[in-house]
Amino acid sequence: MKRGCADGSPSFSCACYNLGMKIALVVYSLTGHTYEMAEEIVNGIAGTGAEARIYNIKDVDVDKDFIDSSSGLIIGTPTYMAGCVWQIRKWLEEDSKSFSLAGKLGGAFATAHYAQGGQDTAIMDILGQLLVKGMLVYSGGGAFGLPIIHHGPVALDKEEDHYERSREMFRIYGSRFASECLKLFS
Ligand SMILES: Cc1cc2nc3c(=O)[nH]c(=O)nc-3n(C[C@H](O)[C@H](O)[C@H](O)COP(=O)(O)O)c2cc1C
Repeated sequence: MKRGCADGSPSFSCACYNLGMKIALVVYSLTGHTYEMAEEIVNGIAGTGAEARIYNIKDVDVDKDFIDSSSGLIIGTPTYMAGCVWQIRKWLEEDSKSFSLAGKLGGAFATAHYAQGGQDTAIMDILGQLLVKGMLVYSGGGAFGLPIIHHGPVALDKEEDHYERSREMFRIYGSRFASECLKLFS
């Protein structure tokens, strides 16, 4: 059954079929913000009919079979000291060595306290590592109009109501990311 795009974008409406497309999210979340935004991304992905699973590496082991059979991998991190957390860096550098990541679509997102907190650096840390692994990278894009997402979505937990307002952007990012996977791999 054809399902609507979560972002309402007509340009993707022809690609939104459930074709067994899988997308994995690997995040580190200590106090829950990064995990909650990962859930919003999954909500956006679900609108395209693709299947998505979140692995918070603080609590669970990552399912290698699911990731190996996924078309896309999205990494989420809190911003610590204006960069990504060491747990994500370790997962990318060591724990995922035996995973089949080359050729998949990759993306990254961050949560942080402050607008000048270094979240863009955190995202670029991750995107650089995905490139090293031979992955394609996707930002969410400015070309689709609002919301403009330059490197990846960000939610700030200490800037007025930015965190709650960000939820929709994360859903749209999920929809755009899954639609891009469908275009590339289906
Ligand atoms: C040790 C530590 C360092 C942090 N460093 C930064 C930082 O450099 N910039 C920033 O904006 N927020 C910083 N934060 C705030 C976190 O990035 C923010 O609260 C994030 O949403 C937490 O994610 P989580 O709830 O998924 O664990 C830091 C938090 C901790 C605990």
